[in-house]
Amino acid sequence: MNVPDHVAIILDGNGRWAKAKGMPRTYGHMKGCANLESICDDVRDLGIKYLSVYAFSTENWKRSREEVEALMRLFRSYLKRCLKIAERNQMRVKIIGDISAFDEDIQESIRKLEDFSKDYKDLYFQIALNYGSRDEIVRGMRRMAEDIRSGKASPDNIDEDFIGTYLDTAGIPDPDLLIRTSGEMRLSNFLLWQLAYTEFYFTDVYWPDFDKAELVKAIEYYNNRDRRYGGVKEG
Ligand code: FPP
Repeated sequence: MNVPDHVAIILDGNGRWAKAKGMPRTYGHMKGCANLESICDDVRDLGIKYLSVYAFSTENWKRSREEVEALMRLFRSYLKRCLKIAERNQMRVKIIGDISAFDEDIQESIRKLEDFSKDYKDLYFQIALNYGSRDEIVRGMRRMAEDIRSGKASPDNIDEDFIGTYLDTAGIPDPDLLIRTSGEMRLSNFLLWQLAYTEFYFTDVYWPDFDKAELVKAIEYYNNRDRRYGGVKEG
């Protein structure tokens, strides 16, 4: 099996998964969180080098206060547990998105986790938190404009690679395969720049049920695609 280097996943369907079981949405998020832990092990076992997941979007603040608070509690405990998962999988963890919106203790846990895991090299794990691709581009372009204003960069430097260095994903190759669970077929503002040539795989399976066998199915789909880069048969 030809394993993609970089898999990106839009984690979706926690709420519907819970509803189908007559449980509150927050139970679905808890199970979704547990599944994220096991998928990291699976991804590493399969030899995938990069995993990026969309866990909380800039839009997700609009959910009920109760749900947002439950998600924050989950992030708090997950970020701490993730130290062990990072060590177990020798994985470097990076948060992409604007973390300044989170409470200070969450930001501190993020910094601690990133620093703790920074030298691990078996798996590179990106978690998108308070992430929106347009927001990422706006933040990046503001920094670029500042660098041009201060003389650190010139408009002549601007090309695709240069723009990439101002994105949250700087230094990380573009995803080869994007998976979205739960039957939705939208990008929802995830990695718009980075997904330009990526293969998409959609499945009806809700995120808490997306296990290693489902991941293997997605990779098999990826293997069967006739991948073409460049101008010939793009699109
Ligand atoms: C989508 O399901 C899921 C989310 C918006 C939150 C994702 C969170 C997790 C997987 C849990 C923990 C993650 C971390 C990083 C600790 P949904 O609520 O949109 O489900 P629905 O579409 O069925 O309502």
